[in-house]
Formats: sequence, C-alpha cells, structure tokens
Amino acid sequence: MAFPQSFMDELAARSDIVDIVGQYVPLVSKSGSYWGCCPFHSEKTPSFHVLPDKQMYYCFGCKKGGGVVNFIMEEENLSFPEAVRFLAKRAGMEVPEDQGDREAGRRRQRLLDLNRDAARFYYQLLQRPEGRAVQEYLDRRKIRKATAVKFGMGASLDSWDTLLTAMTQKGYTKAELLDAGLVVQNKNGGLYDKFRNRLMLPVIDTRGDVVAFGSRVLDKSEPKYMNSSETPVYSKRRVLYGLNLAKKTKRPNIILCEGNLDIVTLHQAGFDNAVASMGTALTVEQTRLLSRFTKELVLCYDNDNAGKIATERALQILNNSEFSVKVLQLPRRLVDGEYVKQDADDFIKFQGPDAFERLLNGSENGVEFRMAQVAGKYDLSSDEARIAYCGEISDLLAALPSAVEREIYTARAAETAKITPEAMKLEVQRAFKRRQARDKKAELRRDLNPAAQLQPRERSLRYDNIRSARAEEGILRLLLLDESLFPPEQPLTPEQFSSPLLGKAFDLLWQARQAGRTPSVTSLLGQLSPEEMSHITAICQQPESTKNGRQALADYIRVVQTEADKRAGGVTDPLLAATEKYKDKKGTGGKQHG
Ligand code: UTP
Ligand code: MN
Repeated sequence: MAFPQSFMDELAARSDIVDIVGQYVPLVSKSGSYWGCCPFHSEKTPSFHVLPDKQMYYCFGCKKGGGVVNFIMEEENLSFPEAVRFLAKRAGMEVPEDQGDREAGRRRQRLLDLNRDAARFYYQLLQRPEGRAVQEYLDRRKIRKATAVKFGMGASLDSWDTLLTAMTQKGYTKAELLDAGLVVQNKNGGLYDKFRNRLMLPVIDTRGDVVAFGSRVLDKSEPKYMNSSETPVYSKRRVLYGLNLAKKTKRPNIILCEGNLDIVTLHQAGFDNAVASMGTALTVEQTRLLSRFTKELVLCYDNDNAGKIATERALQILNNSEFSVKVLQLPRRLVDGEYVKQDADDFIKFQGPDAFERLLNGSENGVEFRMAQVAGKYDLSSDEARIAYCGEISDLLAALPSAVEREIYTARAAETAKITPEAMKLEVQRAFKRRQARDKKAELRRDLNPAAQLQPRERSLRYDNIRSARAEEGILRLLLLDESLFPPEQPLTPEQFSSPLLGKAFDLLWQARQAGRTPSVTSLLGQLSPEEMSHITAICQQPESTKNGRQALADYIRVVQTEADKRAGGVTDPLLAATEKYKDKKGTGGKQHG
C-alpha cells in the first residue's frame, strides 16, 4: 500500500465527506443523511446520497459511489495518490512520501515538460525559414500572426527525425518520446517523428499544461487531421480544444464546434468562447468540465448529416442537465446552383462575424431544433403525413421534463400540423400516459428480477453464484452497519466467497478489525478500484435490518459455506446429481429424434 494506514485513517477523520462533497454539490439534509444533484451525470432531481455515518456517497442514477477519496478522484480527475495529496493539503497534513508515487509523479511531470518543449520547438520552427510551408498555409486560411501565437501554433517539418533529434539533445529519452506519442517505432525498432510536414496545434488544458497535439496536413492528403493518441497525461474524453482560452471569456455562453480550426477562426473573429471536442462526440466528462465555467451551451456542429447526428447525441447527454442548451444552425451555402455544407470557419469566411453574431443571438433551443428535425421528415401538405407527424412529435413532447415546456411546444406543434391545440394536447397526453405505463412496467420487471438487480454493472465483476453472492453482500452490509456483529473467530476465508471482489472486501474489513481499527468504507480506500468501490457502496444502500443481526449473519455465513462446499466437491446432493444426469440424457435423446 502506498500510504500508511495510520495516515489514511487520520486523513479520513479530517476530511468529513459532507464537508468535502458540500463544497462541490449543494446538499440538503434529510433524516440523518444528505441528498443533492449528482455531479457525475446530468440531472435535475437529486439522486446523489451522502451518508455521514458511513462516510460514503452513492448515486442512484449513475451508480457511482465510494469514500471521500473516490469522490475527489472523480470530481478533480485525479489518480488515487493525487487525490490523497489533494485532501492532505486541504487538511494541512504532511504526506509520507512513497518512493513509487514520487516516481510516477515525476514521470508525469517529465511528459508534460517534454510536451511543452516540443510545442516550443514547433513554434520556433514556424518562425524560421523552414516553417514557410506552414506559414503560407496559415496565410491561405487567413489566420493572423497574433492568432497563431495565441494558440501556440507551430510547424513540423518534412523530415523523419527533426523533433526526435532536438528532444534527445535536450535530454529526453526514447522511452519518454514514445510515451508522449511524439515519435513512433517502425518494425525494425527504429524511431521516427509522428508529426511531419504539418500545422501543429498544441492541446492545452485548463491548468495551462500542453497535454497533446492536434495537427493538420497542408494539402489534400490523408489523414487530414492527426492527433496525439491517449497518453498518461492525455485522455481525449476529458479535454476540449480551446477551453484554456474560452474559460476567460466575458460572453455568457460557450460555443461547441467540431473542428480545431473552427475554433481558431471563431476566436479570431471575436468569439473567444468557442471550444471543440476534436472529432469525438461530446462526453459527460467534457460537460462536467464545462459546467465549471458556464451554464449555457451553444451547439454549433457542421450542417451535414454527421453534424445533425452529433447535435442529437449532445442534446441527449445534456437533456435534463443544469445547462440551458441552444442549437446554432449554420445555413448551407449556394455554390453553382447547389447547396453545400458549411462549418463555422466557412461561415465566418463568407458571411462575416456580424452574420455569425446574428445567428448566435437567434439560435433555437434544443427542443426547437429537434421539433424542426421531425417536421423536416414529413411533407405536411398530405393528411397522412400530418397524422404521422402528430404521432412522432407527441412522443417527443411527452418526454419533456417540464410541464410548461410541454404546453408551449404542444401549441407550436399544433400550428405546424395545422390542427387545433386541443387535439394536439390530447395526443401528447396520451403519449405521456403511454410513457408512464412503460416506465412503470420496466420498474416492475426490475423488481421481479432480483438477480438482475444484484448483478454489478461491470462485466468483470459479474457474479457466478447469485445465491452465494446475495449472502456475501448481506455479510458485508451487516458488518459495515454494526461493528459489534464481528464474530470472535474469522468465520470464512476470502476464497470461500463466490465473488472475488466481495471476498477481498470482507478480508480488508477483517484485517482492519484485527488491527484494532473501525472497519468502514475508509478501510477499503486505495485497495479497490473506483468501479469496485461503486459496487460496494451500492450494496450498502440496500436495506438491511440489524435487528436479529447476529442470526441473520449466521444464516448468511451458512449459505456461503454451503455454496463454497458445493464448488469444492462438485455437486454434493446425490438426488440433485441424479436429476441433472436424467435431464441431460433426455435433452440429447429429444434432439436426436426431433
Ligand atoms: P472536419 O473534416 O470537419 O474538418 O473535421 P474541418 O474542421 O472542417 O477542417 P478544415 O476546415 O478542412 O481544416 C472536424 C474535426 O474532426 C477531427 C479534427 O479535430 C477536426 O478538426 N478530425 C477530422 C480528426 O481527428 N481526424 C480526421 O482525419 C478528420
Ligand atoms: Mn472546415
């Protein structure tokens, strides 16, 4: 273990979960525990539960949970040792340094230093005669010098080893260059520069670190854009291109686009609130990052089919979130009698910043966008199409969480379909009831199938033996609820548990108890992965009474023992074994004749 247990205990004692979580999420107290809106997924009604007595949190919506360190890991995007350091600093505690951690931290810093040095090197090349091809490309795209500087743009040369040589001279090792994804290895083990003859676009996170590079070719060759692969300092799900600049904007919202150069053009035209997700769909991690800086998002994806799909996906992620969302739809452009796709960059170039500002002010909200998409599918001059439109639009309207919104847009849909508002309203009400019935049915199915309910979400944690696993869960729940229930002798070995995770958790609690500490979720911190922690906290959320706790515990232990014996000796019940065999024979026979 990286940190001494006594240190972890003190850290946990000084980092009350309600205090810490409360700094990120407004919490409301309700009979001994606290509720709030989950910071890890988008929601308007609280399903995030914080339990001060167990020092743990759990979200019933996204099923994430854990102790205070897990919360900081997730919320601040930190590794376990980083989160521990973060909390220690806050609690004014000195961290006992572990050699391994210090090493990992140092390696990470080396990669960041290397990225920064590489960015500087590419930048300098751009200013020199060798960078002329890239310079000319920037001129062609009307990117001004000041803009290029602001984004830290650079040039990689048409050569296999310019960066490799320069960075090696600076003292970086081949392994470091490979780790950073700046060089690539060929079949014979030789190294060469990954980025060659390209416009270089450093990706800078909100802390100001260069975490990766995007790059563009100067001609029509493929691939047009080449980005760094994932590295220990770069996870593309968690970064937005341009947010390092956009976070300082005075504008009330943030504009989301598809392409890196759309961002550059927009900033240059005075829209310093634009960011891009660099060719990936918007992720929940990115929306969390954005929520630190704004409450209003404007989606401005390309006006082709892919852009429409990306918009719809982003709207789904943002549905029910605290953001207000608008969709800025770029018009297509008429070229030689044909309408062609335009992105933000094209639009600014051809129509100018004022026209973009007008679009921005007039952008529709997400509901309007989706309604227009549905209307666009039907030729509303035919009665048949109008009926079909009403069916589809009422499903969409029924799904809106706010009654006010439902009413307003129902009236608008009635206008579009040229029917009376009353008829449309009836249609939506019917769709709403259908929805409710469907939700209830799904809930019922879940209730009737406890096995499905019990299964961990992670495939690798799935239970093999539901009967035993349920008892194993009960054991953990009881021991965490009431320490006095710990039997004097260890009743089970971890191997007797059918679920390796539950066995390990039991073992950790037992060890804590043996060492004279209070076994709690804190005893598991640092020993279990975030997914494993989430599952353990989910188990603790299920009801369990400690009345007759001793008897219940004994029953659970017996079930686990019986199931473990069965596993050890095959099927022990001879009658059961016989019927199994009989079933087998019959099965095969039936098939042969059939
Ligand atoms: P687009 O192909 O729409 O390019 O890719 P664009 O932004 O209009 O590019 P220009 O104007 O021709 O320079 C949008 C974004 O998708 C990612 C890049 O981040 C790009 O900015 N992408 C695209 C890739 O990662 N790889 C590719 O091969 C293409
Ligand atoms: Mn473009």
